[in-house]
Amino acid sequence: MKAEITINASSGSYKAAVGENIFEEELANYLSQKQADKLFVLIDENVFRHHWKTIQPILSELVTNVHFLQVPEGESSKSVRFWSKTLDFLLNAGIRRNVPLVVIGGGVTGDLGGFTAATALRGIPLIHVPTTVLAMVDSSIGGKTGVNHATGKNLIGSFYQPDRVIADTRFLESLPKTEWINGLSEILKYAAIRDEAIFSEAEIFMEPDLQSMNKKKLIHLIAKCIKIKADIVEEDEFEGGIRAFLNYGHTFAHALEKACDFDTISHGEAVYLGMLAAQELSNLTGADLQTTKLSAYRSLYNFRISKEELSYNQLNEYMKADKKRTDEHIKFVLLNNWQEPEVKTVKDKTLINQAWDAASNELS
Ligand SMILES: NC(=O)c1ccc[n+]([C@@H]2O[C@H](COP(=O)([O-])OP(=O)(O)OC[C@H]3O[C@@H](n4cnc5c(N)ncnc54)[C@H](O)[C@@H]3O)[C@@H](O)[C@H]2O)c1
Repeated sequence: MKAEITINASSGSYKAAVGENIFEEELANYLSQKQADKLFVLIDENVFRHHWKTIQPILSELVTNVHFLQVPEGESSKSVRFWSKTLDFLLNAGIRRNVPLVVIGGGVTGDLGGFTAATALRGIPLIHVPTTVLAMVDSSIGGKTGVNHATGKNLIGSFYQPDRVIADTRFLESLPKTEWINGLSEILKYAAIRDEAIFSEAEIFMEPDLQSMNKKKLIHLIAKCIKIKADIVEEDEFEGGIRAFLNYGHTFAHALEKACDFDTISHGEAVYLGMLAAQELSNLTGADLQTTKLSAYRSLYNFRISKEELSYNQLNEYMKADKKRTDEHIKFVLLNNWQEPEVKTVKDKTLINQAWDAASNELS
């Protein structure tokens, strides 16, 4: 089974394909339209370890020369230093403007590789091969690329669309459970802002052994999420309006990640807690959302932080410093009802602290 979604961007349209064992066919199909006899590959080190023996012969079949560079795991690879290293890798090996860069990994490798492709020779062809659930449903779609700066995450970057996205679920076989759950948070976000049915379709994540989940249902769910993201970014490619809805729960989440030094909480865990806080704040500002939709998935999350470690004052300061803020008040994506998001400014600190209670009550 394979699903295909077309994403229309101002720079042109591109396809995202989702399926099991589709990598070789999709890449061959793409390369048949190019005259490249070589390929550059940026690949996450863990994906390299688990899958290079499968990937390498496929690439060698398709082109004469394959140059590859491994990206060490972790957010620290999304740095100016590593970006510069990837440019050295391409330029020292004589990259030309028609030679594609194939980026294989999660959101870290994808954001870094996307920015490298955007900046090398002012833009070379980019193919995303996302290998985490989060990268498949979110980061590989929509063209946001970039690296971090000492003063904050994703502060250096550009919008740069890939030529193709190939989401082959076979690569998920080696994905650790915590990373599946990170992706689940973004899937639940799509349910909250756009598609009620996803709340029940995501039940496949309740399987005790995620590797044995129904692949057809997984592919269907990933494709559905890609389509939602595609629809939103098509309408608002450069984030002037509704693209902000994709940040549901994220204002709280980014503050939590910062408070935990991007260490003791993962992005997905923070987004889950952030969505609980956003749900509470929505209810405190006029909505009447039942709380069971997200809490049904609570048992899948193992939080490593305690309530006592969080200072609401500090968290609120971090939210105020968020780069997406445009005035002195904090803007939140809230829900008037499920699937009815709206950006709202909330000035009342008591309400915001009550929202934090809803998240921190989940911690021991
Ligand atoms: N560009 C966007 O629109 C966008 C959207 C959301 C998030 N992001 C960014 O994405 C990043 C997070 O992405 P992520 O959650 O994919 O994290 P990640 O890239 O760090 O990957 C998570 C972990 O999984 C490992 N891994 C990846 N694929 C694997 C596989 N198939 N098998 C085994 N291990 C594998 C990695 O080595 C890493 O240890 C953040 O930097 C975030 O800012 C970007």
